[in-house]
Amino acid sequence: MKNNMLTLGIETSCDETSFAILKGERKVLSNVVVSSLKEHKEFGGVVPEIASRAHLETLLACLKLSLKKAKVSLKQIDLIAVTRGPGLMGSLLVGLSSAKALSMALKKPLVGVDHVIAHVYSGMMSDPKLKFPFLGLAVSGGHTLLIEMKSPSRYEILGRTIDDAAGEAFDKVAKMLGLGYPGGPEIDRLSRGEDTNKFFFTRPILTQDSLDFSFSGIKTAVFYKVENLKKNKPLSLRDKKALCAGFQESVCDVLVQKSVRAAKTRKLKAIVVGGGVSANSRLRALFTKAGRQENLKIVFPDMSFCQDNAAMIAGLGAALHREGRQKDGLELSAYSDFNRRDRRGN
Ligand code: KG4
Ligand code: ZN
Repeated sequence: MKNNMLTLGIETSCDETSFAILKGERKVLSNVVVSSLKEHKEFGGVVPEIASRAHLETLLACLKLSLKKAKVSLKQIDLIAVTRGPGLMGSLLVGLSSAKALSMALKKPLVGVDHVIAHVYSGMMSDPKLKFPFLGLAVSGGHTLLIEMKSPSRYEILGRTIDDAAGEAFDKVAKMLGLGYPGGPEIDRLSRGEDTNKFFFTRPILTQDSLDFSFSGIKTAVFYKVENLKKNKPLSLRDKKALCAGFQESVCDVLVQKSVRAAKTRKLKAIVVGGGVSANSRLRALFTKAGRQENLKIVFPDMSFCQDNAAMIAGLGAALHREGRQKDGLELSAYSDFNRRDRRGN
């Protein structure tokens, strides 16, 4: 592979339509992200039909803008990388069909990329010193996974949530407290500088050596605490803030503890924290502290890779193409569920 190869990345798994152009495996020439989030807000979550229609409407303008910003023409593109899943089926199909059409028209190879693995892989794009193997913690609205990353195509799942994903718990607790959607950024903001012990929530560790997670218990504990407080008077802003801080501390503490345990068990020296929840300021602080104490390298991909974006898809796609193990054609399918992906390379 030429090391200045141009990869077009396409991401449409949820509410962000994103196109990116990558030179080689790291140099992001453009990364255009357009979100339909405001169209979903009144429904308290992403509405699949609205999301797929928004992708259709935005797609061409996004592609044109990504080319313009990168100062390249479509003809110069060498490879097309696209998110196959997990995500909303209709939305994924919009991106996948566009990728196939471009691949056919331009006669360029196509590579399908897993969105969750790309979040973790983006650590490689942010930190040139990071080497395989490393531990990946993928924390998003739909997933909480501990992954031993052995190469771009080889990985092993070490732990996963047995109920809610971490981001999902943030969103549900925010809803209970009457905060907007998505809830994570609001809880993060309200928790700043608050006492994390005014409302203490037990850490769901499961068994001592388990690397799985469970967040629905904390969410239920917050629910009962809120109900209790509301019996006497409406919830004050002070209590809301302290509840946010107590909840956030519990979730972040468990994420850090289990990641450190996994890294030690597998003798891995670095942890990459990827996905929407990796933007959380308290999670970043606790990981940084644990990294110092445990002598582990902690990598938080650049903020631009925390939200859903096509640059990470292009990055992992380019690496998979270089490895040459994955050959995708027009039969490439989408999957909504991470567990239903084909386990090629795993
Ligand atoms: O990766 P992502 O953008 O989409 C999925 O693939 O799910 O993650 C979205 C999730 C939402 O649940 C959102 O509440 C959460 O990431 N999130 C945060 C923060 N920013 C986004 N959670 C906690 N703290 C944040 N600062
Ligand atoms: Zn994501």
